[in-house]
Amino acid sequence: MLIEIPAVLTKEQVRQCRAVMDAAEWVDGNVTSGSQSALAKHNMQLPEGAPVARQVGDLIQDALGMSPLFISAALPLKVFPPLFNRYEGGQAFGTHVDNAIRQLRGTNFRIRSDLSATLFLSEPEDYDGGVLTIEDTFGSQEVKLPAGHMVLYPSSSLHHVTPVTRGVRVSSFFWMQSMVRDDAQRTLLFQLDNAIQKLTADKGGKDAEVISLTGVYHNLLRMWADS
Ligand code: NI
Repeated sequence: MLIEIPAVLTKEQVRQCRAVMDAAEWVDGNVTSGSQSALAKHNMQLPEGAPVARQVGDLIQDALGMSPLFISAALPLKVFPPLFNRYEGGQAFGTHVDNAIRQLRGTNFRIRSDLSATLFLSEPEDYDGGVLTIEDTFGSQEVKLPAGHMVLYPSSSLHHVTPVTRGVRVSSFFWMQSMVRDDAQRTLLFQLDNAIQKLTADKGGKDAEVISLTGVYHNLLRMWADS
């Protein structure tokens, strides 16, 4: 399932991030590709581990840690440090599936990519094209969000970014390993959690059905989660 997480960063945070990123040195995006995606990928990236990438990446991870919507949707176990890319002058990323395993260079930190994320750092009106297109079970989904907003999607999905034919598209992208590996199970937990939150708002946390459903949520999580 595709899930939009609005306003992960405020407009002011986006402006600050872009100011330091735009002044940084960018390199060919193929530094992080597997051999198949290298053939499809045409963009620029901030070098992994560059001070600017770490600084902005930490800001994003802190913001996600405070987002109940993100935590409920992703049930994150391990998040790969955010990476950053830039498309302009017709650059694009052809159809591919993200690598299943990601290892942080020079470390033992390794994740299985269950979920992929793109956090938009350019306003949609500032560029043409650059649409993230994701093959979902319900067909192709086209994603182009306001700056500061993020989309989460299963890493198993085929996806591509259409050519940027005007302006510049800057975004952050990263992967995470979820406590719940299976997308269908994770989606059910997310829907159940949403319903419980709404019921709690309507009926209060002491309502017997709210307590019962909350127990069901936690017992399903116990059954399906790795921690
Ligand atoms: Ni990808």
